[in-house]
Amino acid sequence: MNVVQNRPLVIGHRGAAGEAPENTLASFALAVKQGADGVELDVHLSADGELIVCHDPTVNRTTDGAGVIADQTVEQLRRLDAGRWFDEKYAGEHVPTLEEVFRLIPPEVMINVEIKCPYSARLQMRLFELLKLYDRLEGTVVSSFNHKILHSLQAAEPALKVGLLYDANLVDHRRMAELSGMNVYSLHPYHLLIDPEDAADATAHGLQVYPFTVNDEGQMHRAVKAGMSGIITDYPARLRSLLERL
Ligand code: G3P
Ligand code: CA
Repeated sequence: MNVVQNRPLVIGHRGAAGEAPENTLASFALAVKQGADGVELDVHLSADGELIVCHDPTVNRTTDGAGVIADQTVEQLRRLDAGRWFDEKYAGEHVPTLEEVFRLIPPEVMINVEIKCPYSARLQMRLFELLKLYDRLEGTVVSSFNHKILHSLQAAEPALKVGLLYDANLVDHRRMAELSGMNVYSLHPYHLLIDPEDAADATAHGLQVYPFTVNDEGQMHRAVKAGMSGIITDYPARLRSLLERL
């Protein structure tokens, strides 16, 4: 995984979702081109047990198709256009699998896989199969709002890096990680719910802090000054540019 000194990691949300259709190969490629240190993406399980990169449980909002991902096979999902809704120039983009993203993203770029589907043995099996096949265990952080899923996954693979997603106004962010009973790698709070003292306390105890989703330049500046370890943004180029000016 990339090691960057003295500045937060730039983590492209759903790729570079502000400038390209979210969670497509074009969006991930753009984030990498813009200098992102990592990319965030969302996964669901298809009917035939493949990990599909898409935010919503259905394809309705982000493709020209309809229906629940869990009810469709990879072949069915592959036929959908996932780019035209965003801009005609992205027509032909498809809904990628996690495997395709692993093939596309250079190994030095961190991948944050957010689990959006329920826990299942198939999910666990396919995730670990891919992490091992593409040698991505070290360079991947698996996050979820459902911390029980992360607990199950890390019980199966103690080396798995897990990130706790949350949008609650916590009294003590670092203690939440300790109380989870997991070996937590990173905290992923909604960005307005964590202040510099919380972030400093967490990072002093060895946690990474990656707030989401910071798109406004003023809020990016605040997150940088607050000492966040990484910043999840739809606009990696905007954040890179800000960091270069500081
Ligand atoms: O992982 C950070 C962020 O992506 C969580 O919210 O709804 O964009 O998946 P959401
Ligand atoms: Ca997400």
